[in-house]
Amino acid sequence: MKLTGKKALITGGNSGIGLATAQLFVEEGAEVAITGRDQKTLDDAVALLGPKAHAYRADVTDAPARKQLFERLANDFGKLDIVFANAGISGKTPTGTADESVFENIIRINLTGAFLTANSAAPLLNDGGSIIFNASVHNYLGQPGMAAYAASKGGLRSMARSIAADLAPRGIRVNVVSPGATKTPIWHRGQRAKASAEESGKLAAFVASMIPLERWGEAQEIAKAVLFLASDDSSYVNAIELLVDGGLNGAPMGSPRTRG
Ligand SMILES: NC(=O)c1ccc[n+]([C@@H]2O[C@H](COP(=O)([O-])OP(=O)(O)OC[C@H]3O[C@@H](n4cnc5c(N)ncnc54)[C@H](OP(=O)(O)O)[C@@H]3O)[C@@H](O)[C@H]2O)c1
Repeated sequence: MKLTGKKALITGGNSGIGLATAQLFVEEGAEVAITGRDQKTLDDAVALLGPKAHAYRADVTDAPARKQLFERLANDFGKLDIVFANAGISGKTPTGTADESVFENIIRINLTGAFLTANSAAPLLNDGGSIIFNASVHNYLGQPGMAAYAASKGGLRSMARSIAADLAPRGIRVNVVSPGATKTPIWHRGQRAKASAEESGKLAAFVASMIPLERWGEAQEIAKAVLFLASDDSSYVNAIELLVDGGLNGAPMGSPRTRG
């Protein structure tokens, strides 16, 4: 057990990568606080995770909700050891036709929300703790229509370096996990919710064809990387970005589409 006695906060812990990480953390002995906006999936998650998990409904962009969340965490948990700032959304912002509110919402949730989570959590964190931000391969891809999402995730990566410097005197490590395409509900939300089964199938095959390992990642595979960054296994790993993308960024010419 790698997290015996540890207390962790996971934003967006009611779905996808956050939920898979909460499950793994509980299996490894941690007590876990999960947040999200949707009460039903929060309730379902706690039913799945068992008595070592506690759910708090809180939107990362809502200042009063955040204040209340951290007051409740101080009361219920006392201190924290691990923060996984994971909550995020995707969305298209094609340059020239992008909706201003869509751009701002992506930045507000993915970047500002993650900073304000770390900012509120820092006083509660034990010295020697660990913060992990969930960024994305979109830091590097240059994919059309993704300016806001890419900016939010690139921002997380830069921000993590500065926060690592802020918290170094307390021995708190700050790292970033950057997943590639991972099978989670994010791919069926927003505009993509309207896609037909055929369109979704085509997209899934196209994405897999761009990846040297020729497949999508599973949420559990990202969770294992987060566990590494959260646990003492990474005790000398600080201010890094860990790509978990099947080789998409490191060996793009090795994908079925480009290897010839
Ligand atoms: N799946 C991928 O391919 C992939 C790749 C790279 C990076 N990521 C990143 O991984 C993270 C998790 O996404 P996922 O793939 O696991 O998708 P997901 O299943 O859609 O999970 C997103 C989570 O974020 C929460 N969330 C969104 N907006 C929030 C807000 N304003 N306040 C609080 N919680 C909020 C959602 O909770 P509610 O449903 O309750 O709102 C949900 O729990 C995101 O940051 C995403 O950008 C995903």
